[in-house]
Amino acid sequence: RPVQSVAAAPASSLEKQVSLFSPSKVNLFLRVVRRREDGYHDLASLFHVIDLGDDMDFGLLPEGATSETLECSDPTVPTNDSNLVIKALNLFREKTGIKRFFYVNLDKKVPHGAGLGGGSGNAATTLWAANELLGRPATTAQLLKWSGDIGSDISVFFSHGAAFCTGRGEIVEDVAPPLPLTTPLLLVKPPLGLSTPTIFKSLDLARRSQRDPRELLASMTEAGQKGVRALQEFCVNDLEQPAFDNLPQLAQLKTEIGHALDSSAVFMTGSGSTIVAVGSDTAPACLLDPKHKDLFISPARLITRKSGEWYKPSGMWSSS
Ligand code: C5P
Repeated sequence: RPVQSVAAAPASSLEKQVSLFSPSKVNLFLRVVRRREDGYHDLASLFHVIDLGDDMDFGLLPEGATSETLECSDPTVPTNDSNLVIKALNLFREKTGIKRFFYVNLDKKVPHGAGLGGGSGNAATTLWAANELLGRPATTAQLLKWSGDIGSDISVFFSHGAAFCTGRGEIVEDVAPPLPLTTPLLLVKPPLGLSTPTIFKSLDLARRSQRDPRELLASMTEAGQKGVRALQEFCVNDLEQPAFDNLPQLAQLKTEIGHALDSSAVFMTGSGSTIVAVGSDTAPACLLDPKHKDLFISPARLITRKSGEWYKPSGMWSSS
């Protein structure tokens, strides 16, 4: 057998390995509270982790390795230091002082520029995996706190799945899931993604919702017990208007889905460009029109994790 180098990361050279599901998220509501001096915005948002996710394999490279190996199924994803997976591993070494390197294989399924936090989920999953492979030198609370240094919506993945997030998004308060976890979701994304900084930049603060975020949280939780239709008025997203200004077809898509699924709550997640329908997981006939042939369409479920465990897919789709 040829001798393989560490850079090629043969399974035999890995001391320990773990495979994890890397989930994504939706924002059930998103209020922008204010523009900050540092260029960011203070938010108040109800996040929920969902089971649309990537598959990630991790291995601990032998002592003495001095660089990471990241492989990705999507050739358009950079695998250098700009990737949040590498940023997460650099952060982990810096915070723990443990100078070990990793092999990571990322099988991408979550689209980017989607408002689904796919890359953020990868970063969170990477911090969890590195900590597992090294015998848990850090607590979950530490991973949550550290993760805020490399992105705004990574910390939410260290909640139990449903969280009210404030600050840039990195201040995380666990809440009870506002809806039964069996509630069907449909995710619909046009081929064009949206860039988060662009959307925040084009936000006109005067056109925001006036609703108080804590009141929204309480109302949504109450409405969630009554059924999904009652949710619609609370699914506000202050980034919808700037997203629609940047991508006018998105407003049309939301309207079309809203009409077709009139017993669902329909809204945009994060900074777009995914439209979420809560209450159905079947694409309505109008989306099967040839003009929509390039849409990304996926069913999904809300998921939570148990203390000390990482997220697993809901298992909802394995039998069909
Ligand atoms: O923190 P993250 O790297 O995910 O943010 C990407 C960009 O989105 C930031 O550089 C900023 O322009 C914008 N952003 C913001 N306010 C937030 C989160 C993100 O303005 N709370």
